[in-house]
Amino acid sequence: MVSTNHHKLDVHDLSGRRVLVPGGTGGVGEGVVRRYLAAGADVVVPTRTEQRAEEFRKVLGDAATARLHLVVHDYTSFAGAEGLATEMARNLGGIDDVVAPIGGFWSGRRLWEIDESDWQTAFVGLATAHAAVMRACVPHLSPSGAYCVVVGESAVTPVPTAGLVSMEQSALLMMQRVLTAELGGDRRVFALVLGPVRTRSATAAGPGWVTADEVGDVAVAASAGSLAGREIQLRDQGDVSRAIAVLRNGRSRAEAVVTMSTMRPKPGRESELLDLLGELATQIRAEPGCLRYSAHLTRAADHPTVLILMEFESSEAFEAHSARIAEQVPRIGALLETPPAPPALFGSDMTTA
Ligand SMILES: NC(=O)c1ccc[n+]([C@@H]2O[C@H](COP(=O)([O-])OP(=O)(O)OC[C@H]3O[C@@H](n4cnc5c(N)ncnc54)[C@H](OP(=O)(O)O)[C@@H]3O)[C@@H](O)[C@H]2O)c1
Repeated sequence: MVSTNHHKLDVHDLSGRRVLVPGGTGGVGEGVVRRYLAAGADVVVPTRTEQRAEEFRKVLGDAATARLHLVVHDYTSFAGAEGLATEMARNLGGIDDVVAPIGGFWSGRRLWEIDESDWQTAFVGLATAHAAVMRACVPHLSPSGAYCVVVGESAVTPVPTAGLVSMEQSALLMMQRVLTAELGGDRRVFALVLGPVRTRSATAAGPGWVTADEVGDVAVAASAGSLAGREIQLRDQGDVSRAIAVLRNGRSRAEAVVTMSTMRPKPGRESELLDLLGELATQIRAEPGCLRYSAHLTRAADHPTVLILMEFESSEAFEAHSARIAEQVPRIGALLETPPAPPALFGSDMTTA
């Protein structure tokens, strides 16, 4: 089981930060707005209709403090977004962070079956809204701030009959990359790539689904930290914990330690070993600085070997893990053919660090 709790202990103080959340009235946006308000920020949520503003205030309930600035304003055109950014800068004195969970889902037709109205709605309309907000806000962003564009996994995985969403979202991923290249480290731009999210409208959410509040926690951690902008995958709760651990410490993955070890269970003790590793998994994944823990059984049935992969955000975190796990070594050793050897240590992924 994946630990889901330790990142919730992080409390970031973003008092005085001015955060714009276009799309904040939506299912994902709600969690983002809640978590920035909880962190003490001033949060501007533009919405295109009065009715949506009223509904959203009710949805937030007591969380809608005086630091929530809910404004009826169409931010989805270039002129509209520019007007909003100018007004926010004038009224609040600037824009520190932007989180853009704009737009929902579209599906129902294969690419060659779409008509012009589908194209305008699912591609042009949404891409224009994102581009409008981006170009209006980036020049205002404060040096410590972060811009987070929110997309779904369909940006990287084609979903049949929802191709327009995939095309639009992958354009947004490229927008994050181009901005990062063009800004050259002057401002931080993130893309949060979400798997399915437990929102107020998700009727049948699965157990490992990321919640809207957790998307907010990751965005808050990105704002509060100083880590350079990047793409962050949030497919499940494990991804949330890893993202927050990395963002919280402002460490680059270049400092991470990856470990690999193999174990040969005694004949007939394989399932006991796997049960024990499963039991330890919950504890290890909850350790500070643990980014990954997984155990894999070889596919060669005649020669059972277990491969353990772990990743820690620093050597210090790995050493603290080694000290903690020492008392479990005799339990593991009793199930192995040979005593457990220290793991081989590696640096982080050279293609993404
Ligand atoms: N929900 C999920 O499970 C999930 C999973 C993966 C990725 N995502 C991504 O997260 C983002 C937000 O998703 P969501 O589920 O929160 O969507 P949502 O509930 O539909 O909310 C999206 C918000 O975007 C605003 N918006 C502006 N222009 C829009 C347009 N042309 N069409 C629709 N909405 C528009 C709306 O705010 P106003 O009307 O108030 O202006 C709306 O409240 C999207 O990029 C989506 O792909 C969501």
